[in-house]
Amino acid sequence: MGKSDYREESGLADRVLDPNKLIGRYQIASLLRPALFLILACSMVSPGFAADAEPAEYSGKGADTCLKCHDEDNEYPVLPVFRTGHGERNDSRSPMAILQCETCHGPAGNHTEKVKQGEIRAPIRAFGSGAWTPVTEQNAICLKCHNDTNRINWHGGIHETESVACADCHQTHARRDPMLTARNQVEKCNQCHLKQKAEFYRRSSHPLRFDKMRCSDCHNAHGSFGDKLIRTATKNELCNQCHAEKRGPVLWPHAPVLEDCTLCHNSHGSVNNALLNKRPPFLCQQCHNNAGHPSPLYSGDGLPGGSVPSQRKFLLARSCLNCHSQVHGSNHPSGVKLLR
Ligand code: HEC
Ligand code: HEC
Ligand code: HEC
Ligand code: HEC
Ligand code: HEC
Ligand code: HEC
Ligand code: HEC
Ligand code: HEC
Ligand code: HEC
Ligand code: HEC
Repeated sequence: MGKSDYREESGLADRVLDPNKLIGRYQIASLLRPALFLILACSMVSPGFAADAEPAEYSGKGADTCLKCHDEDNEYPVLPVFRTGHGERNDSRSPMAILQCETCHGPAGNHTEKVKQGEIRAPIRAFGSGAWTPVTEQNAICLKCHNDTNRINWHGGIHETESVACADCHQTHARRDPMLTARNQVEKCNQCHLKQKAEFYRRSSHPLRFDKMRCSDCHNAHGSFGDKLIRTATKNELCNQCHAEKRGPVLWPHAPVLEDCTLCHNSHGSVNNALLNKRPPFLCQQCHNNAGHPSPLYSGDGLPGGSVPSQRKFLLARSCLNCHSQVHGSNHPSGVKLLR
């Protein structure tokens, strides 16, 4: 939806807002009122808009009207919005160049009027999944301007179907959106994803808690073509973006490595070395029960002081990897058993 669409919807089509002035001096011409009413009535039945919301009208008042009450002394300081792309009055794509605060917060009606004692202030659209405005209506507002390739899979994505609001992750009235810095993003995602938060505190993990990586290195929170909101079509494609040396092709590949790195690794973190799901030999024995050499049930008996010393090489140090060191595949002419 472009700027002119907003003007039409708001009934302010013929009024040009001087982008250099904060003061929105335009009043809704009484002639336009019937047209405005029709358009608003239509927008109420279009999907994404609450059918039961009061058909408030755009006040057409600029930001300065709002700022009379919502200033920096307020419980919720709104001014930082002017230090973001959303407050850029000289950028015709910006909400501030269109209906200013009402572009996002919607028709204010007489929310901006003084109220007498005992009277209730007219409601105005609020954001976040705790707000009274339905999440689908809120998100539709943001998507009017941000319906681009990065959000092509928003509809049907898990965050959309779980009714997560754009504003649950993004903060508009902040100088820097938390999603765009590593530390703040990870913190925010972790507020809802406690299990994953714990995984990143394990002994071996991708270095998110040191601000070296962020969730969005691997996930597209807006939805994806892949499973689990993964940025790429397959998991291996993702891992290989940063671990290119594992991509191959090699002379003697190890089948599970070609198939899916997460057969052996936990992408977030693990209590074992190298993000491994299980410790060798147990990791390997999930798939190799009857290897060409004895593969008994390993126990404490195989440890130093135990009764089966021959098992030590299978249990100590790197276990199966003591011999099969090339677990990701081998390029050695005689590396078929991944020994070198
Ligand atoms: C005359 C003072 C006044 C003006 C002008 C005013 N507001 Fe408010 N606004 C309030 C008060 C007071 C509240 C607190 C909620 C309440 O008590 O209704 C509020 C609440 C809000 C909320 C939170 C609503 C909610 O349900 O959580 C938003 C958003 C908001 N105002 C936006 C605006 C915008 C945008 C404008 C300009 C178009 C504006 N306000 C103009 C006084 C004002
Ligand atoms: C009227 C159009 C419009 C609407 C509505 C709108 N935005 Fe934006 N948004 C923009 C523009 C323009 C920019 C600046 C883009 C640029 O600088 O390239 C922007 C930038 C952003 C950014 C990047 C911030 C940064 O610092 O780079 C985020 C995140 C964002 N918007 C989220 C939202 C969310 C969430 C909503 C709904 C609450 C929303 N937008 C509503 C036009 C809009
Ligand atoms: C679950 C958290 C989450 C939700 C919900 C979310 N975003 Fe984002 N958004 C992010 C993260 C993380 C980034 C930064 C990394 C990236 O671009 O993927 C981002 C980046 C952005 C950007 C700036 C970069 C760009 O793509 O232009 C815009 C604009 C944006 N989001 C808009 C939206 C809109 C609109 C919605 C709602 C339909 C939304 N986001 C919902 C997490 C979220
Ligand atoms: C790009 C869309 C956008 C624009 C433009 C915008 N807001 Fe907001 N506003 C939001 C979102 C989203 C929230 C929810 C909290 C957050 O993201 O920071 C919010 C929160 C608020 C709140 C607090 C509501 C509450 O629940 O307590 C007030 C008050 C408010 N805005 C007023 C304004 C005023 C005044 C302006 C104009 C100067 C304005 N907003 C411009 C999107 C916008
Ligand atoms: C407001 C809460 C909230 C926030 C914030 C949030 N999510 Fe989610 N997310 C959910 C819910 C609810 C689900 C669905 C239930 C589940 O799988 O836990 C979900 C699911 C997911 C899934 C699983 C997808 C699947 O198909 O199983 C991934 C991946 C994900 N979120 C990543 C992120 C990332 C990355 C961020 C931060 C950029 C983030 N989330 C922020 C609520 C949130
Ligand atoms: C190194 C890449 C990577 C990073 C960084 C990453 N993830 Fe994941 N995430 C994955 C992969 C791959 C899966 C799929 C795991 C699977 O299928 O075994 C996944 C799965 C998930 C799931 C689905 C449930 C589950 O655990 O399988 C959620 C939720 C999730 N991630 C959230 C997050 C959050 C939140 C962050 C940031 C704190 C994050 N991820 C960072 C790669 C990553
Ligand atoms: C955005 C880049 C990136 C992506 C994508 C990525 N990784 Fe990593 N990975 C890293 C970084 C950085 C480290 C930490 C290296 C260090 O500590 O020296 C790491 C470490 C590891 C380690 C542990 C290394 C060690 O010696 O302990 C394993 C195993 C690993 N990644 C597997 C994966 C798997 C599996 C995937 C796909 C699900 C994946 N990585 C995706 C960047 C990435
Ligand atoms: C059959 C199980 C298995 C599969 C599948 C697997 N790995 Fe590993 N990976 C291991 C083991 C075991 C180690 C520990 C090696 C060691 O201790 O020397 C390891 C270590 C690593 C390391 C850190 C040490 C190093 O060699 O750089 C990275 C990074 C890694 N794997 C990435 C990947 C990637 C990327 C994939 C998918 C392309 C993958 N792994 C698939 C078993 C596997
Ligand atoms: C997810 C299942 C899986 C896991 C886990 C796994 N492998 Fe394999 N491995 C295979 C498959 C499948 C083959 C190919 C078998 C074939 O070609 O007959 C293979 C082949 C091998 C071969 C070559 C066998 C031959 O006959 O050429 C060796 C050696 C091997 N794996 C060792 C290991 C070791 C050591 C581990 C633990 C670090 C391990 N594997 C973990 C599935 C697995
Ligand atoms: C002491 C060194 C050593 C250790 C430790 C070891 N292997 Fe082997 N493994 C070998 C050798 C040597 C071969 C090649 C035998 C041959 O070619 O006949 C082999 C062959 C294999 C094969 C191919 C079987 C076949 O029929 O050719 C598999 C699978 C295998 N090992 C898995 C494992 C697993 C799983 C572990 C850990 C439980 C392990 N190995 C520990 C030395 C070892």
